[in-house]
Amino acid sequence: MKQALATVISNEKILGELERPHARAISGSWIIWLRCPEIAAEAKSGQFVMARCGEECTLPRPFSIHRVNDRGDIALFFIVWEDGKGTNWLLQRNQSDSVEIFGPLGNGFSIKPASRNLLLVAGGIGIAPLLFLTDLALNQRYSVTLLYGTENASRYPESLLPPRIRLVSVTEDGAIGEKGRVTDTLPKYADWADQIFACGPTAMYLDMARRKKELGLEGKPVQISLEMRMGCGHGVCYACTVRTKEGLKQVCKDGPVFDLDDIIWDELSLNT
Ligand code: FES
Repeated sequence: MKQALATVISNEKILGELERPHARAISGSWIIWLRCPEIAAEAKSGQFVMARCGEECTLPRPFSIHRVNDRGDIALFFIVWEDGKGTNWLLQRNQSDSVEIFGPLGNGFSIKPASRNLLLVAGGIGIAPLLFLTDLALNQRYSVTLLYGTENASRYPESLLPPRIRLVSVTEDGAIGEKGRVTDTLPKYADWADQIFACGPTAMYLDMARRKKELGLEGKPVQISLEMRMGCGHGVCYACTVRTKEGLKQVCKDGPVFDLDDIIWDELSLNT
């Protein structure tokens, strides 16, 4: 793990605000590029960094590493909740400002040497760590299919996806692509996949775990990235403990990537 005072290269709003009558309002989504060659050089897809977000936030905030380039920059893709102090601070950083970050942290995704066809399943903001994995996999000539599901047309711009990816869009209201939940499309693609990598809300993982056979996931290696509240990011505060089949684990240190089968989902769903 490295500590860095990263320089902001760019910070752009890529999605607008979202009125959500029954949930926290969203002011928009941003991509911030930070120059921190020491962290970029070590980063693996699925890992994250902790960022100190101003004096009003006592604790650092976790962010998945969204992309890495060969100039030593990492990108973070983040949603700004209207009442989120950390992300509201981050969106106000301008080019040349500094952001204190440490990482890379946690255990990321791993591609088996024998795999050829990789199926990525993203629910909403879950696309954040999967694009880093996509970039690496396409560079190494794997075939990548991305199933990307959102509630509606407010979603990550297709123009920012790598051109060689095979994209299957799903929206719950049918505005773009297939209508339904992203997991409903799994039976069509699971058979093709040598490995499946997913990132999304707990409800998505619960659906995958409970309907494994129906969705074609039985016998498939499925890695998922868990998102939890974090205090320290490196195994000290125990804020991110989950129960797995191998006992208690810390998402920041043992994860955030786990095998779908390892998590005791019924217990996790009661606590989230
Ligand atoms: Fe502190 Fe995981 S965030 S132990």
